[in-house]
Amino acid sequence: MTNGKRLAFIGGGNMAEALLRGILAATRLAPEQVIVTDVRADRLAYLRDTYGIETSGGNAEAAAQADTVLLAVKPQVVTGVLDDLRRVITERQLVISIAAGISTATIAEAFLRPVRVVRVMPNTPALVLEGMSALARGNLATPEDLATARGLFEAVGKVVVVDEVLMDAVTGLSGSGPAYVFLVIEALSDAGVKAGLPRDVATTLAAQTVRGAAKMVLETGKHPGELKDMVTSPGGTTIAGLHALEQGAVRAALINAVEAATRRSQELGRR
Ligand SMILES: NC(=O)c1ccc[n+]([C@@H]2O[C@H](COP(=O)([O-])OP(=O)(O)OC[C@H]3O[C@@H](n4cnc5c(N)ncnc54)[C@H](OP(=O)(O)O)[C@@H]3O)[C@@H](O)[C@H]2O)c1
Repeated sequence: MTNGKRLAFIGGGNMAEALLRGILAATRLAPEQVIVTDVRADRLAYLRDTYGIETSGGNAEAAAQADTVLLAVKPQVVTGVLDDLRRVITERQLVISIAAGISTATIAEAFLRPVRVVRVMPNTPALVLEGMSALARGNLATPEDLATARGLFEAVGKVVVVDEVLMDAVTGLSGSGPAYVFLVIEALSDAGVKAGLPRDVATTLAAQTVRGAAKMVLETGKHPGELKDMVTSPGGTTIAGLHALEQGAVRAALINAVEAATRRSQELGRR
């Protein structure tokens, strides 16, 4: 987003705060370029005091002064928020939505004028600036709009662009994925405790091992299978562990998990 442009967050909850923190820390925007709305006055006071941004209790009033309007409320309240914004959003503005399961078409149809919409599926590690966000372009959104959205979400992690039809798969993998990995870390920690390690040491070993392995995949660009082979010596400890994982059908379990979550996202989107 270029200098002088204004961004309005509609909803100042967890995800909005994570983004706000990242965007300000990366100096993508100055605090005076950002306005946040919420239904809770205490929340707005906290955000104002912590980040020096402007706040407002009025969604329409805040959106009217912004170049980019970022919908960061729960999917259940999106309809009400779109009603608030119906009359104030014009062709000159970009609407970005992070509401899970709400299509760009549903959002665009809510307005009186043709509006450019970009949909984003972030995930919770955005809270620690290691988020994974997938962007999808609505019908009227331009490459510049995608670049604007990319600039905002890169402040809290990595960004990919996908066709909107793939958003359910993104939800099943990176959206729900942190929970799968938390479960894996917890299980590894339990295993460490079973093998005699103190709990805190076991959890640190497990979490840092997951982080290190992920970083190797991302930074070397090597296939995960190749990286696995590099640490698997003939007749050694790792192949014994891998054999046990294959007996436990871990690959199939993870594929089933992503498939089930993708299907559930499709079902929720049809409601
Ligand atoms: N957290 C994630 O990992 C994640 C990942 C991907 C996508 N998302 C999406 O991000 C969106 C926000 O999630 P979140 O976890 O940040 O939710 P959240 O913490 O509940 O934040 C939403 C905020 O909006 C406020 N709000 C409710 N109604 C409003 C209205 N009419 N106008 C303005 N503000 C209103 C809420 O207040 P009350 O609490 O009083 O209702 C709350 O402070 C959701 O659509 C979710 O699907 C989240």
